[in-house]
Amino acid sequence: MHLNDPSPGYLSLPCEGMDDSMAYRLLTSLIVPRPIAWVCTLEESGSVNLAPFSSFNYVAHSPPMLAININRNEDGSLKDTARNLQANKECVVQLCRQSDLAAVHASAAALPPGQSEVQELGMHLVPSQHVRVPRLDGAAVQMECRLDQVVDLGRGVNQLHILEVLAFHVDSSLMDEKGRVNLEAYRPLARWAGPYYAQRGDILLP
Ligand SMILES: Cc1cc2nc3c(=O)[nH]c(=O)nc-3n(C[C@H](O)[C@H](O)[C@H](O)COP(=O)(O)O)c2cc1C
Repeated sequence: MHLNDPSPGYLSLPCEGMDDSMAYRLLTSLIVPRPIAWVCTLEESGSVNLAPFSSFNYVAHSPPMLAININRNEDGSLKDTARNLQANKECVVQLCRQSDLAAVHASAAALPPGQSEVQELGMHLVPSQHVRVPRLDGAAVQMECRLDQVVDLGRGVNQLHILEVLAFHVDSSLMDEKGRVNLEAYRPLARWAGPYYAQRGDILLP
């Protein structure tokens, strides 16, 4: 460490001129665990696309809104999810269980457009009530969403997709009789750094 280090005890990494891959590694390794949006969208052909996104959170409650950052592919084209969402303005965001780990990870594979991850994984769909995109049968939570806006961020690699939730479908075994989520029963899968995932740990009280 240099004597004139402005932050002794810290490795200081200014972002000006920082390589994008370094910025990505820092963000995705340090901001953990992250929830995972497991997103169904409808292809033009009618087949259902499924992919996971962990640059994701809720951003408003009146009305309920979510945001998902979808990166462009290296050639600048849109990922299937972003393309479908921007074309027909609808999606279903699922929240998954720890037991969905293998399927969530496998659903990130880049399949040719028209080939459905849902079919490849042997999963089943059920009709939605507010959007044309169907829901993933058996997921812990399914949220029917309408695209509110797309915000191009920074240098154009990232696009923030802001979604309004039109309906929540929550596995009834995860809710108590007053409609509150049963924290003991709910075991969502979360994203850790690199290829790692996280499972729920202890629930703490202040
Ligand atoms: C757990 C997990 C989280 C991911 N999070 C993101 C994300 O937040 N943004 C993104 O652009 N890609 C993310 N990816 C990569 C996409 O899932 C991957 O590019 C996928 O092929 C996109 O599918 P699509 O082309 O069908 O939309 C993630 C992958 C995994 C396994």
